[in-house]
Amino acid sequence: MNEPTIHIIGISGSLRNGSSNTNLLRAAATLAPKHVKLTIFDGLGDLPHFNPEIDGEEVPEAVIDFRTQLKAADSVLISTPEYASGVPGVLKNAIDWTVSSSELYNKPTGVLSASPHPSGGENAHASLLMTLNMLNAHIVSGGTMCIPQISLKMNAAGDITDNGLAKEIIAVLHALEKALNTEL
Ligand SMILES: Cc1cc2nc3c(=O)[nH]c(=O)nc-3n(C[C@H](O)[C@H](O)[C@H](O)COP(=O)(O)O)c2cc1C
Repeated sequence: MNEPTIHIIGISGSLRNGSSNTNLLRAAATLAPKHVKLTIFDGLGDLPHFNPEIDGEEVPEAVIDFRTQLKAADSVLISTPEYASGVPGVLKNAIDWTVSSSELYNKPTGVLSASPHPSGGENAHASLLMTLNMLNAHIVSGGTMCIPQISLKMNAAGDITDNGLAKEIIAVLHALEKALNTEL
């Protein structure tokens, strides 16, 4: 029997061309088993600044698109850098747009934080987990990881050059899948 296809939406907290976090999600998409489809959301930079006053009946098109894609996904995998010891504004902005609409509620969610520094973006990681917990996202056990010194583990083309990291990413994908299977 064929396993049902699992849809994961990948969200990178970096808008930068050549972002290591976006590249990590691209690598995860290629490492995923056949029945797991990881699609990277590419509209983060198009979201307007969150304002509760425009979160009413006429929500901006970019927000509707984001919410629709999030809702349709079985699971979410966020990969983010750390900016100034916190979550990049563009990612926090996107998450703020989900507070009233609750797409992350109970959604199996994984969090990666890649940094060229030895700290591995742990402040952004912790802060993001706090926000996601507040929204009652289902933070998957084994689905979260800080990745220090990413530049030693991934080349400029975005290929993972470190076997250990590739295995860890596969383990994260398995954890997301397991969380979904447990829910079924
Ligand atoms: C404005 C700015 C602030 C940063 N602050 C931090 C920081 O607090 N901690 C950290 O580990 N890295 C920090 N960095 C370095 C980022 O982790 C690094 O640029 C990383 O590669 C960005 O991720 P990306 O490759 O996905 O774009 C900062 C970078 C920028 C541009």
